Amino acid sequence: MILITGSSRGIGEATAYEFSRDRARVIVTYYKDRKRAESTHRKCLDLSGSDGLLLELNVADDASINRCVRTVVATFSRIDVLVNNAGTLTWTRLRDQTADDIQNQVRTNLEGPIKMTRACLPYVTETIINIGSIAGKNGIKELTVCCATKFGLRGFTQALAKEEPNINIYSVNPDYVATSMTDFVGRPPEEVARVVVRAAKGGYAVPSGSDIDVGSFHVIRTSSHLALQSVYTLTAHPSNTSYKRHTRALAADACQPPIDSRNPCVSM
Ligand SMILES: NC(=O)c1ccc[n+]([C@@H]2O[C@H](COP(=O)([O-])OP(=O)(O)OC[C@H]3O[C@@H](n4cnc5c(N)ncnc54)[C@H](OP(=O)(O)O)[C@@H]3O)[C@@H](O)[C@H]2O)c1
Repeated sequence: MILITGSSRGIGEATAYEFSRDRARVIVTYYKDRKRAESTHRKCLDLSGSDGLLLELNVADDASINRCVRTVVATFSRIDVLVNNAGTLTWTRLRDQTADDIQNQVRTNLEGPIKMTRACLPYVTETIINIGSIAGKNGIKELTVCCATKFGLRGFTQALAKEEPNINIYSVNPDYVATSMTDFVGRPPEEVARVVVRAAKGGYAVPSGSDIDVGSFHVIRTSSHLALQSVYTLTAHPSNTSYKRHTRALAADACQPPIDSRNPCVSM
């Protein structure tokens, strides 16, 4: 049983399909986009050839988390893999973010996965994967709040791995992925999905608590010029304003050394 938060679209949707291709039973969850989630759920059933579940879940709402986990446990009695994927982003300078922008990102990206994990923990048999980000390993301007949540999520992953020796827990940290979050600029979400499924199967020789980076982190650490080049290869739409913004943000931060390079890490 694979429970994926925010699997109506984007990385969560691609991950749902990747697990389903592997014949796993997937619980698809959505926040606002029920229609899209219904289509994701149907495709999962077709791909896996087995049953699954479609549930509403707002990770920023305690009652919604409890309702979702109660239903999953009543139906399947266990969760083999929990993927904390749901996330949100307000891409602007801190001084232009409202209190609601900040609260929404902290609740969805950090508090949500923590509470979701706590609620699921008694029923998780194998693995928890937290979808982190390049923004959890490098401070990137105009992503201050997102960076704070994703750095926090990695800390949570590392600490929980020490508390729960019988479960494998990883942070999968993508760089830029072509979803609605980036105006569809970046690598295909399927690439991240494949890494998540491989991690869930224990396919990386790293200890629990590790980072599994997906993307151009090593490039970003070495040279701004190379970082720019690597972003260019990710998109066929150089006139896209969002793309220019990503490129600027990466270029500005590319010369920064990594803040935390001591945690066990594998780069994909
Ligand atoms: N795209 C990137 O470049 C990138 C890079 C690094 C990391 N990430 C991370 O990858 C994860 C997935 O992002 P994405 O790019 O796939 O974004 P996306 O396409 O915008 O999808 C976001 C998903 O999260 C769900 N969601 C949003 N708020 C929620 C809430 N309060 N409760 C439950 N679900 C909620 C959405 O549900 P509805 O559609 O039903 O509303 C949707 O399924 C996020 O954690 C993000 O930070 C993305």
